[in-house]
Amino acid sequence: MKDSLRAAMPHPHSSHVARLIQLSDLHLFSDAERCLNGENTRQRFTEVLQRAKRYHRDDIPTVTVLSGDLAEDEQAKTYQHLATMLADYPQPVLWIPGNHDNLQSMTSLLTSSPLIEDKQILIGNWNIIGLNSKQPKEKWGYLADTSLAMLRSQLQQHDNPTLLVLHHHVRPIDHDIDAIALKNADAFLSLLSEFPQVKCVLSGHVHQARAEQYHGIGFYTCPATAYQIDPTVKKFKLDPQSAGFRLVDLWSCGNYRTEVIRCDNQKPL
Ligand SMILES: [Fe+2]
Repeated sequence: MKDSLRAAMPHPHSSHVARLIQLSDLHLFSDAERCLNGENTRQRFTEVLQRAKRYHRDDIPTVTVLSGDLAEDEQAKTYQHLATMLADYPQPVLWIPGNHDNLQSMTSLLTSSPLIEDKQILIGNWNIIGLNSKQPKEKWGYLADTSLAMLRSQLQQHDNPTLLVLHHHVRPIDHDIDAIALKNADAFLSLLSEFPQVKCVLSGHVHQARAEQYHGIGFYTCPATAYQIDPTVKKFKLDPQSAGFRLVDLWSCGNYRTEVIRCDNQKPL
């Protein structure tokens, strides 16, 4: 897999109906000065958030997804501060937990607007579904039978073009971090093979951007807003690239276009 742009070829009568912004792996601390792997994670997140705001669209529904590892220290204060940082954010924010998160604190504290509790929303004619792949006390991910049953039920009810988000990566990326990927990826992929409306799956966890088409579904990972991991070597190595996020533009026909935006990318809007 490599960091690449999917060239969309929407049908002639298709329209651009919605935009999704994926922010991932914030690794925030309650202490504003604390760093992780040399990065002040609160400062980096602030910069990415400012950049992401510039991609907000007033003419089409836009939603942001926080795809896990929001707090490194799992402290309630950290989630409270995150809610404060997002208070003036211009669009709904859906969140899912990562292996570093405290789900109980998230559920009780990440509730005020623009944060939304629903893990299934419709934007444009697209169905967006967030999945919880966190396993207590484990770094690897797992989708519980109840989560898979819930997903099956939602896909049976809606045949709209569908985008799924979960923290753990599903497809291997030829890196040591594959040891802590989604453990029951086979069961997940088997379920998806029954529902052709599933167009793409977004993940965080790997702190690097990857892209792969697999059996007709796009699997994408995202840069972290915290530190970056070098995608060119198999062992853990920090990557000096700047923090960033993934942008996904959704068309009514079920096609989409995605790209990675880095904070040092000065491309005009
Ligand atoms: Fe992470």
